Amino acid sequence: MNESSLSIDIRLPSDWADDEMRADMTRAFTGSPIVLPPKWLYDHRGSEIFSEITRLKEYYPTEAERSLLKRHADEIASVTGADTIVELGSGTSDKTRTLLDSFAATNQLTKFAPVDVSEDTLRGAAAILDKRYPGIEIAGLVGDFTRHLPHLPTGDKRLVAFLGGTIGNFYVEERRAFLGALADVLHDGEWLLLGFDPLKSVDKILDAYNDEPGVTAKFVRNVLSVINNKLGADFDLSEFEYIPFWDGTENRVDMRLRSSVPQQIRIESLDLHVDLGEGEEIRVEISTKFSPGYLSEEIKQAGFNVHSVFLAENDEFGLLLAERSPAAQTS
Ligand code: SAH
Ligand code: AVI
Repeated sequence: MNESSLSIDIRLPSDWADDEMRADMTRAFTGSPIVLPPKWLYDHRGSEIFSEITRLKEYYPTEAERSLLKRHADEIASVTGADTIVELGSGTSDKTRTLLDSFAATNQLTKFAPVDVSEDTLRGAAAILDKRYPGIEIAGLVGDFTRHLPHLPTGDKRLVAFLGGTIGNFYVEERRAFLGALADVLHDGEWLLLGFDPLKSVDKILDAYNDEPGVTAKFVRNVLSVINNKLGADFDLSEFEYIPFWDGTENRVDMRLRSSVPQQIRIESLDLHVDLGEGEEIRVEISTKFSPGYLSEEIKQAGFNVHSVFLAENDEFGLLLAERSPAAQTS
């Protein structure tokens, strides 16, 4: 077959950004401490800055995951026998091509379904993949993986890839809810390929989130521009210091913005004034790191059988391959 087929299913209504962001930000800015949901980091500019992060010498996860995928893609294709790859939080799907190449080489792959909240990024990636893999259906979904799992594209046997360590950006309760919801929509015998960042030297981890050129600081501060643009707020980005630190109790990097001065922020479309004291912090994102045993147990509790855990050299990154199975569920 030589024909290409590309479709994009839009699950986010055009007013999604307005309505949902309004609700999220009202909750965040009337709460204490102020905690922002991470999905708002990825407007067009945010997605571009994230790509810049992946090229930083300090940011080890991207290249470590790419080499792990190269090493194990053939095995993953043959073990899973999947005919459809669904990728959650797919971004540019750049590393995913390694996986797609192996699946395509065995002629087993009929469909690739990238899923992302960032429509621009998804459309760009889908167009490139459509050219590269004629004969494979590209079925993109612009959606939120915390809400739209029931609308995932179908397939005879799907492999859901959730790469990059994005699982680490959930808070623990959300992570468990997400894994449970994913298990609910998969059929027995379907698969999950989960990229995660294993626990390692705290210095090495923190360097990856505190890079010399300040790209991560730019990425985290950009969320304030998103709020300015979408909700008519008047955040002055230069009045916020980027503070990443290691939370050893929760095993996660905690990325915050600290107000350098006492200030009042107006968020026009929420009709809200937010008073920030000098030194007051906004938590923008967390990035949890996992021991393979701990994560495997959580995956098992969600309803999967862990088939393999592949680790990169020096535990720089990990890939966990698990099969949906009713026998895996405990209580
Ligand atoms: N998988 C890629 C990109 C990781 S960045 C990689 O490994 O490099 C995280 C991606 O998840 C971004 O593209 C962002 O737009 C997307 N994302 C974040 N929250 C999301 C959500 N709730 N639903 C769908 N996509 C989301
Ligand atoms: C997308 N996610 C896995 C990145 C991470 O490493 O937690 C997001 C990121 N934030 C700052 N740098 C990278």
